[in-house]
Amino acid sequence: MYFTRCSSCLWLLNALITLIPSSYAAQQQPLHLATNDVSKRVAIIGAGAGGSFAAYELRKLADEAGIPLNMTIYERASYIGGRSTTVDAFDDPAYPIELGASIFVQVNEILVNASRDLGLGVRSADHARPKEAEESIGIWDGTQFVFTLKNSYSWWNIGRLFWRYGLAPLYTQNLMKNIVGRFLRLYEEPIFPFQSLSEAAAEVDLLDATSTPGNQFLDTNGIGQLFAREIIQASTRVNYGQNLAVIHGLESMVCMATDGAVSIDGGNWQIFDGAAKASKAGVRLNTTVTAIERKDDGTVRIISHPTGDLDSVQSSEEAEYDEVIIAGPLQYSGISISPPLDHIPDEIPYIKLHVTLFSTPHRISPAYFGLDGKNARTPEAILTTHPEGDWPSDDPSGVGPAGFWSISTLRTVTRTAMKDGEEVPEQHYVYKIFSPERPSAKMIAQVFDIEYNDTSSVVIPRTNTSIGDLPKSEISWFHEKVWNPYPVLYPRVTFEETLLAPRVWYTSGIESFISTMETSALMGRNVAALMLQSWQQNSKQGNRSNAASFKPRTEL
Ligand SMILES: Cc1cc2nc3c(=O)[nH]c(=O)nc-3n(C[C@H](O)[C@H](O)[C@H](O)COP(=O)(O)OP(=O)(O)OC[C@H]3O[C@@H](n4cnc5c(N)ncnc54)[C@H](O)[C@@H]3O)c2cc1C
Ligand SMILES: *[C@@H]1O[C@H](CO)[C@@H](O)[C@H](O)[C@H]1NC(C)=O
Ligand SMILES: *[C@@H]1O[C@H](CO)[C@@H](O)[C@H](O)[C@H]1NC(C)=O
Ligand SMILES: *[C@@H]1O[C@H](CO)[C@@H](O)[C@H](O)[C@H]1NC(C)=O
Ligand SMILES: *[C@@H]1O[C@H](CO)[C@@H](O)[C@H](O)[C@H]1NC(C)=O
Ligand SMILES: *[C@@H]1O[C@H](CO)[C@@H](O)[C@H](O)[C@H]1NC(C)=O
Ligand SMILES: *[C@@H]1O[C@H](CO)[C@@H](O)[C@H](O)[C@H]1NC(C)=O
Repeated sequence: MYFTRCSSCLWLLNALITLIPSSYAAQQQPLHLATNDVSKRVAIIGAGAGGSFAAYELRKLADEAGIPLNMTIYERASYIGGRSTTVDAFDDPAYPIELGASIFVQVNEILVNASRDLGLGVRSADHARPKEAEESIGIWDGTQFVFTLKNSYSWWNIGRLFWRYGLAPLYTQNLMKNIVGRFLRLYEEPIFPFQSLSEAAAEVDLLDATSTPGNQFLDTNGIGQLFAREIIQASTRVNYGQNLAVIHGLESMVCMATDGAVSIDGGNWQIFDGAAKASKAGVRLNTTVTAIERKDDGTVRIISHPTGDLDSVQSSEEAEYDEVIIAGPLQYSGISISPPLDHIPDEIPYIKLHVTLFSTPHRISPAYFGLDGKNARTPEAILTTHPEGDWPSDDPSGVGPAGFWSISTLRTVTRTAMKDGEEVPEQHYVYKIFSPERPSAKMIAQVFDIEYNDTSSVVIPRTNTSIGDLPKSEISWFHEKVWNPYPVLYPRVTFEETLLAPRVWYTSGIESFISTMETSALMGRNVAALMLQSWQQNSKQGNRSNAASFKPRTEL
């Protein structure tokens, strides 16, 4: 994600901001509920972007409306952030490296505003890249670089682009702006808040984009195949680990909203940590919710266990709430729900992504990438695509001859090395590889010109080698992680409900529409706003917490 998501869309954002009424909440009358001496009790399962922003927004809205609120966030992991988290290179807190979501863009207003309001430091996403090579991005098809770019984040007005692709970049940019404009209507009245994402998507006219695969969508919009395959597909691969014949048109265009890419200094998880703290919710880390029981008396019982002790009856805990928000993909949550939900989210395939972080004194090998000359420098970020003739590939894991989705140079670090019995400073590079399979030691040795003989052991053939098999002198630090980072974004026209049953809310349906930190945060805010509306409507009717009677404004 070093390359994606639109300061060229800023004009549009600015135009929109002037149209947005100060706040939808400000128009709501502060209400004194019949039960104003009793707090609304809300359980949020998951402390990622969705859960933390649900809490942040609910706190704001409830305070504005004068509704007392008691929130608990359950998080099975030991940290806040979910798929947005860092690991420290060399276990040194001076070198935090993004292991999950690394980038957001200017048009991501929720994250941009929260970073500002929480006082976090925002940096250009590639500020630490060494910039030793003339070319910052190369697009590799397994045999050659089909295109290289000098500047990673502003690449629309590059002459070279127009030489090779004609007007396709311009058409793509216009289409992208149009799509972003439609998407941003989801942030505003009268669409926001929306109970049905399917209906909201139809209202903002985005279903034509979600209903067709990217290659077809681009073709229909007059965007040439060469540009689609070489540039847009390189972007869908680095961002979503899938090719254009798989990923739908909307998410393909999200990949092209690239300018103004930033990240939070020290880790994007701090946005979610800041939002959770500002919400004054009680945060229960290392605590896994195992069951939700929906009671006849209008409450929900949450059963939880310490994450390390899931099967023990003694360690189980129960608590009663008025509402619960499931803020992560239900299919991976392990939660049993009784009685069964009215709307059970479909299980959908997710991508399997290997993230390999490591440091080495070596640069990316020019020879491996077919560059010759002693002073040849390989681009610092290598994106990949399918070669000509191998298009379109509809195999979701169809990485093709390149073998990996991307390799990026993140930063340099200074280590000490021994030379002639003396400690000398040595410059190392920190890299990130995204691939559908675990990279073998041999592959890494080849790509980084590391000497390595994997036929040296005759007794045990080293079939399953990995980065850890390379000498410590060559690989000074590494961290491997397998994620289910995002769904396989097959075309679709309906999306999961936000209210799965009375009092049981869900944020993760938005992942099949657009899968980003911003959209999860948007859905968290959306669910918070819907919940507040339901309280206000029911209190007008004299009912305490009857979400079933709640009629959303957007229902057709
Ligand atoms: C490698 C990678 C790169 C990415 N790059 C980008 C990028 O550059 N930009 C971008 O915007 N997005 C990116 N994404 C996607 C982004 O990370 C996600 O879309 C977003 O973080 C999802 O947030 P969420 O809150 O919906 O879900 P999650 O972050 O998954 O949060 C759900 C939380 O719920 C918890 N949980 C689940 N079940 C239970 C339970 N039973 N009890 C208690 N807790 C539970 C989980 O532990 C988790 O913390 C990337 C993702 C990955 C993995
Ligand atoms: C919130 O609820 C918890 C659990 O019932 C309780 O211990 C806590 O005191 C409550 N907090 C507030 C501020 O009411
Ligand atoms: C959660 O668990 C981790 C490791 O198991 C531990 O280091 C950490 O202190 C725990 N955090 C809390 C808040 O219990
Ligand atoms: C972000 O902040 C700007 C400026 O304060 C404001 O106009 C805009 O409505 C905010 N956007 C969101 C999504 O909160
Ligand atoms: C690799 O090791 C094997 C077995 O020790 C040896 O026969 C072979 O020559 C070595 N190859 C290289 C390139 O060093
Ligand atoms: C190689 O790895 C695969 C998957 O992890 C495993 O099933 C297999 O047994 C391993 N083979 C060897 C020889 O270790
Ligand atoms: C309150 O809720 C009950 C069901 O829980 C319903 O039968 C009743 O009609 C509601 N009252 C009002 C005034 O809406």
